[in-house]
Amino acid sequence: MQKIIVTGGAGFIGSNFVHYLITNHADIHVTVLDKLTYAGNKENLSGLPEDRFTFVKGDIADVDLVDSLVKETDAVVHYAAESHNDNSLENPYPFIHTNLVGTYVLLEACRKYNVRYHHVSTDEVYGDLPLREELPHSGTGPGEIFTETTPYNPSSPYSASKAGSDLLVKAWIRSFGLKGTISNCSNNYGPYQHIEKYIPRQITNILCGIKPKLYGEGKNVRDWIHTDDHSRAVWLVLTKGTIGETYLIGADGEKDNKTVMEMILELMGQPGNAYDHVKDRPGHDRRYGIDSSKLQTELGWKPIHTDFREGLSKTIEWYKNNEQWWRSQKDAVEAAYSKNGQ
Ligand code: NAD
Ligand code: DAU
Repeated sequence: MQKIIVTGGAGFIGSNFVHYLITNHADIHVTVLDKLTYAGNKENLSGLPEDRFTFVKGDIADVDLVDSLVKETDAVVHYAAESHNDNSLENPYPFIHTNLVGTYVLLEACRKYNVRYHHVSTDEVYGDLPLREELPHSGTGPGEIFTETTPYNPSSPYSASKAGSDLLVKAWIRSFGLKGTISNCSNNYGPYQHIEKYIPRQITNILCGIKPKLYGEGKNVRDWIHTDDHSRAVWLVLTKGTIGETYLIGADGEKDNKTVMEMILELMGQPGNAYDHVKDRPGHDRRYGIDSSKLQTELGWKPIHTDFREGLSKTIEWYKNNEQWWRSQKDAVEAAYSKNGQ
């Protein structure tokens, strides 16, 4: 049986990946290493078979703990991070600790034991793109869509810390021969996403009788992908990707925030204009857009969840049916936003 450590496996995308592994790959044993910050929830992993799954509560920056776990494993898939841009603008320190120091500790352990390492990262490392309406032509030229060769240009403390972590991985691959790969994915949606994030915040606002909140004019564009499509892509890169390479993951899901807001309202039976415009995010990235041709042509990946409306509708149902999962955090999340005028 292959042994895989999934860091951050109690968070949104990590827990979806663990479910994907346990369901689809019978010969895998998963150890989740997760600190259970405000964003981690052990409930996301309930019901997994005990003979194929171990949970370890701990910090990825804990050198001794990481050493003892990595020594016994075949691969590390690194999801753990401080992940929310707005939080990074309030207090960058945890982002430096986890995303930079934590990644460094994992890299050193993988180097020491020659363990396969996959680094889960974000498209935000590339900065942002002009809105399509500002572009002269097709939107696929240099500077018009992200590719694996787009220069790094992060905007927020979160994206800068992720960019820094990617660069550490590249250096460990080149200088120490680390068996590493990197993937940079666009905005995920689906079950178990923390309610601080855009889509679940608006769904749970409506369920609580609070008006949804749109930053600025809502023209900013995100390239949405269902988290299950992300999981399949990470598995392919881990098992078939070329060591040392980076793969971009995206499902051609570009939508502006206003459009997504109106779709959520419509699917939840509300008038299309029943939301508040609130203060914009400082440094707010305008558009993300991914060219995933390398992943598609080299590794044969294709997104399955291409109907965003259907995926969103199922996600809304999940939050309706799992109120006990998010309810206890709602007041604190909204209080923090409203203190900021958001
Ligand atoms: P999340 O905030 O939902 O979960 C992060 C998890 O990491 C939590 O379970 C938390 O407890 C754990 N964690 C935090 N600090 C830790 C530490 N020091 N030690 C151990 N565990 C720690 O995040 P997410 O949205 O699931 O993102 C997961 C990864 O995917 C991140 O690396 C993020 O940069 C990347 N990513 C996210 C998106 C997205 O749309 N959310 C898109 C592309 C890439
Ligand atoms: O692109 C990948 C990134 O996507 C990941 O690396 C991050 O971890 C993840 O959080 C996400 O970052 P964003 O900043 O794009 O996601 P967020 O859900 O915070 O916001 C999505 C968009 O919605 C963004 O343009 C800001 C806007 N927004 C957000 C909130 C919370 C609103 O208009 N209103 C809101 O209430």
